Amino acid sequence: MSSKIRTMSFDAIVIGGGGAGMRAALQLTESGIKTACVTKVFPTRSHTVSAQGGITCAIASADPNDDWRWHMYDTVKGGDFLSDQDAVEVYVKAAPRIIYELEHFGCVFSRTPDGKIAQRSFGGHSKPRACFSADRTGHAILHALHEQLMKNAKSVKIYNEWYMHALIVDGDRCNGVVVSNIQTGEVEVIQAKAVIFCTGGYGRVFKITSNAFASTADGVMAAYDVGIPLEDLEFVQFHPSGLYRQGILFSEAARGEGAYLLNGKGERFMQEYAPSRMELAPRDIVARAEQSEMDAGRGVDGKDCIHLDLRHLGEARIMERLPQIRQLGIDFLDVDCVTECLPIQPTAHYSMGGIPTDINSHVILDAEGTRMKGFFAAGECSCVSVHGGNRLGTNSLLEAVVFGERAGKSVLEYTAGIDYGNVKEGQEKARILKKFEDIFQRDGSESYNTIRDEMKEIMMTHCGVFRNGEKLKVCIETLKGLQERFKKGKVTDKGKLFNTEIYEIMELGNMLSIAQLIANGALLRKESRGGHFRTDFPKRDDENFLHHSLVYNTPDGPVVKPKRVVITKYPPAERTY
Ligand code: FUM
Repeated sequence: MSSKIRTMSFDAIVIGGGGAGMRAALQLTESGIKTACVTKVFPTRSHTVSAQGGITCAIASADPNDDWRWHMYDTVKGGDFLSDQDAVEVYVKAAPRIIYELEHFGCVFSRTPDGKIAQRSFGGHSKPRACFSADRTGHAILHALHEQLMKNAKSVKIYNEWYMHALIVDGDRCNGVVVSNIQTGEVEVIQAKAVIFCTGGYGRVFKITSNAFASTADGVMAAYDVGIPLEDLEFVQFHPSGLYRQGILFSEAARGEGAYLLNGKGERFMQEYAPSRMELAPRDIVARAEQSEMDAGRGVDGKDCIHLDLRHLGEARIMERLPQIRQLGIDFLDVDCVTECLPIQPTAHYSMGGIPTDINSHVILDAEGTRMKGFFAAGECSCVSVHGGNRLGTNSLLEAVVFGERAGKSVLEYTAGIDYGNVKEGQEKARILKKFEDIFQRDGSESYNTIRDEMKEIMMTHCGVFRNGEKLKVCIETLKGLQERFKKGKVTDKGKLFNTEIYEIMELGNMLSIAQLIANGALLRKESRGGHFRTDFPKRDDENFLHHSLVYNTPDGPVVKPKRVVITKYPPAERTY
């Protein structure tokens, strides 16, 4: 690795090129400020692409009685009353404008016969309010945003296939990042007046996941490393319809269009778990119902699998509304859903927790909301928290665009009239070069793939859909052992060019750390709420746990403290469907 110093300077840097990152960058470039966007993968390959079924908004094309208040109530109830309601209100009120703006950007939404934007049902939403582009909605939005960003190409420099290693902090402000070019291995310092993280989630810590390979906690761990607490990490969402054994998403849009869930006896078992919403109950409830059926020996063919039945929808409707699902079943399992049931199982899908922010996307340092100057976050890496303990389907694409835009606006305000501050380029770069060197010098015999596989296995079996104190303690001890083994694994590629092995090792380091924090948070939250279910504490406990958790990085290890939930309109009530 080169040790020469070359500092690049921008008004603002966005880390991540998914929905939130591109929307934030667009806001900045429209004002002409000098912007960089650093992304591990080409923007249109970001994980946003796999949000298939829709983006939500109360524009009432399918039900004239829909309204932002219903959307807000459904979101708060769906989140098991852990959502911050000031954030939810801002978010649902922005939704109609955001959808029409996306339409005007060129996003091709599916239509009603009279030409309006069509809307379909989704889990936990009391009205059909998911706007969609067949079952490729994330794909359509990502491409529209990318095209818009390219119109402003003069004021944005996109660093494709670059990796972000660390945030740079000068006193009480953040003013840059250390990055490297995956192709050449060169480490560089980029200084900026403001940094926005839109780095996505960390579902890859689980064995069965719908998440892209890039979802490895790089952003959240970089924030934690410089002393920023992380919020609500124990809340991880399992999506009910992951492709059996592979986890690839079969969109909830299938159930929105009327597909059934069947157990091994051919029964629509959701009748037992959520009789009024059936297959369209929120994801946490459906995933637990599936797991309960499988645990009771009622999986399909006695296996850990459930059937998704679309046959009654007919080929024409499937091809119009769900063409990608059909193709995924054919390509990956040789199953055509027009004539056969699709085998599915719960798959780790979304991280409700992340870097804490206020409603204007400023990263905060404590429960009082003290802002970290120059640092902003939006999208799945952040926790604002609109989703509380469980996100409703189609609410994440909306979150990405709403809070991406807000982050961009906040950065424009913040950067007006400020300088770059002090960046010690040599010191910052040396820190990361040493990290590379330390890994290159490891000469152990154990493959990092073994360590990664064991992490994924233990997280799935001991910190998955159902948790308990005993299992979580085993999980934490196992992860500690893996962290030790991580320090002396075997590195086979010691070259500089396109050394994806070294990046995968760094990602694994981040994943082991976040896995430990997820399991620790889950052990301390002795109740069941949203996506976090403890079989030894099966009830929600508002008296003791109606609060967010903030985990702080201290010299004595992680310390978890409570943070107040903002409740404005809807006090906690029993959550039944
Ligand atoms: O099932 C889906 O289409 C996923 C959408 C989402 O997570 O919002």
